[in-house]
Amino acid sequence: MVEKRSFGWTREHISVIGMGTYYDTMETSPDTFPGKTMPGSKTVVEGLKRGLELGLNFIDTAEVYLTEPIVAEAMQNFKRDDFFIATKVWPSRAGYEDLLRAADRSLERLKTKYIDLYQIHWPSRRVPIRETMRGMERLVNEGKIRYIGVSNFTVTQVQESVDSLSKQELISDQVEYNLLVRDIEADLLPYSERLGLAVIAYRPLSNGALANPPRKVREAMDSISKRHGGKTYSQISLNWIKEKSPALFPIPRISSRERAEEDAGGAGWSLTPEEMKLLETAARA
Ligand SMILES: NC(=O)c1ccc[n+]([C@@H]2O[C@H](COP(=O)([O-])OP(=O)(O)OC[C@H]3O[C@@H](n4cnc5c(N)ncnc54)[C@H](OP(=O)(O)O)[C@@H]3O)[C@@H](O)[C@H]2O)c1
Repeated sequence: MVEKRSFGWTREHISVIGMGTYYDTMETSPDTFPGKTMPGSKTVVEGLKRGLELGLNFIDTAEVYLTEPIVAEAMQNFKRDDFFIATKVWPSRAGYEDLLRAADRSLERLKTKYIDLYQIHWPSRRVPIRETMRGMERLVNEGKIRYIGVSNFTVTQVQESVDSLSKQELISDQVEYNLLVRDIEADLLPYSERLGLAVIAYRPLSNGALANPPRKVREAMDSISKRHGGKTYSQISLNWIKEKSPALFPIPRISSRERAEEDAGGAGWSLTPEEMKLLETAARA
């Protein structure tokens, strides 16, 4: 079973690697979202099922990805309580009433009674965060969602979210992070560690660039791979993220059984501090 760790300040035992479900070959414009359905994809469902079998118990989706029905299909024959399902609401539905309706629709598409983590996909320029958080708290009170999260929020916006919640606590921010894109190390990551927030690392393979890395990174990874039984570039990249901080959870996109098996192998072992440094130096070169 895949290595697990506590999700932020919670006692939730979550796999250190989650499964991302955004497939950019699909049309996902929020404007065209209502009424759109995504064609079922057998390979994706098989990939997610394989991941669940292997212990990847954390799946990330969003209303705009159109993959909530696919996640529902993958979970069908598994015990719901064994998994941590995260989805997101698009900022155009961040108003109080819109948010409540959006959550109901996500629940229907996910064919579940509760969402473990409900995230605001991007900050809204129109709706004050206080209003959105009031809706989030109501959803928690009604048992429709268990935890409140945000995505693509800066430190200031996270702080505003924290301050806007009266009865619940924020649990996570989902942001881009990988060996090639490390901006959050300057502020968001240390801040989240201090507050006990989880940081979900999206694009952990830099959208594929780390599965086929630039020359210097490749050389460093080749030497590391030899010392760790032939770990792949993707596995080394995912391991680097989870070793960087106990707050971090990388969510590579799972598109097939092979990807699930490969990515699960990114956990259960550790790069040494010297290997971490070697990778970071190579990525800067
Ligand atoms: N909150 C946000 O705003 C936001 C934004 C972007 C993404 N996300 C989330 O983060 C997840 C991951 O990000 P991403 O899909 O953009 O990028 P990613 O996981 O960093 O990279 C995916 C790309 O890498 C390729 N790849 C090669 N080896 C792979 C392996 N072992 N495992 C996974 N992919 C491999 C994939 O090819 P194949 O397609 O052939 O597998 C795909 O082209 C998304 O699915 C989504 O859940 C969130």
